[in-house]
Amino acid sequence: MAARIGIVGVGMVGSAAGYALALMGVAGEIVLVDRSPALAQAQAEDISHAVPFASATRVVAGDYDALAGADLVILAAGVSQKPGETRIALLSRNAEVFAEVIGAVRRVAPDAILLIATNPVDIMTDIATRLSGLPPSRVIGSGTILDSARFRTLLGQHLHLSPQSIHGYVLGEHGDSEVLAWSSAQAGSVPIRAAAAQMGAAITDEVVARIDAGVRRAAYRIIEGKGATWYGIGAGLARIARAILRDEQAVLSVSILTPEVVGVKGATLSLPRAVGRAGVTADLLPDLDDVEADALRRSAQMLADLAAEVKL
Ligand code: 2OP
Repeated sequence: MAARIGIVGVGMVGSAAGYALALMGVAGEIVLVDRSPALAQAQAEDISHAVPFASATRVVAGDYDALAGADLVILAAGVSQKPGETRIALLSRNAEVFAEVIGAVRRVAPDAILLIATNPVDIMTDIATRLSGLPPSRVIGSGTILDSARFRTLLGQHLHLSPQSIHGYVLGEHGDSEVLAWSSAQAGSVPIRAAAAQMGAAITDEVVARIDAGVRRAAYRIIEGKGATWYGIGAGLARIARAILRDEQAVLSVSILTPEVVGVKGATLSLPRAVGRAGVTADLLPDLDDVEADALRRSAQMLADLAAEVKL
């Protein structure tokens, strides 16, 4: 039977995910739910007009009951950052939203995998895991899928190579403490610094600093310019959804509650992980140098401490 995907919260991020999914054609039906039924209806109508150009997906609006039988529900409800605001500053407002939303989704779609996009996404994924009672492997935050895409894009531009041929991951928090895993990045099968030397585009300290800031500060820059980010994350959510629905076992950097990593227990954070129909089935932590391992430890500890402060 064709897969059903629900999207709860169809502002810019939820609707961009719906649009990307409709173009990708991985679902039979996409159900849009929003606290504004008029917005859900309008987004469904608009997205469904893109469908004839790309797929045969049915895009409809509904209430929570319409999520019955969903294989996957994407949660993009909540407030987003204002210019200059950090993701973590959104926590208390969005935790209140999830207190309501997670129960409503679980009642009608108990078998659905949950895919969390709401920021701060790592802590919101931790909250969703605890509220839902689902195994952590089935409550997946988009985490650093977007940061890894930004890293690959900037490396690809520097090396004049397709970002699809760049393999590199951003680990830890989707946010200020994230860790770009430079030491394991590759172009094709060549370590990134060796590839850069072969391509005559050495990775100097200046290049590292520029790409690091380009990735870490991307959301702040985009929010300054257009108020929010949505295309990158929309496509990233659709990519994760495809890996799940087609049981790809694709290696993607996503966030789940992690028993232990670099000595830190109970942090919800991103690592490269295999993603398929059962959710996350394996972790693939790359080899890290000492600086990266320390940075990941700090990011993980900050997330674990912050999550422990959230009383549900
Ligand atoms: C992003 O990184 C704001 O988390 C969002 O684009």
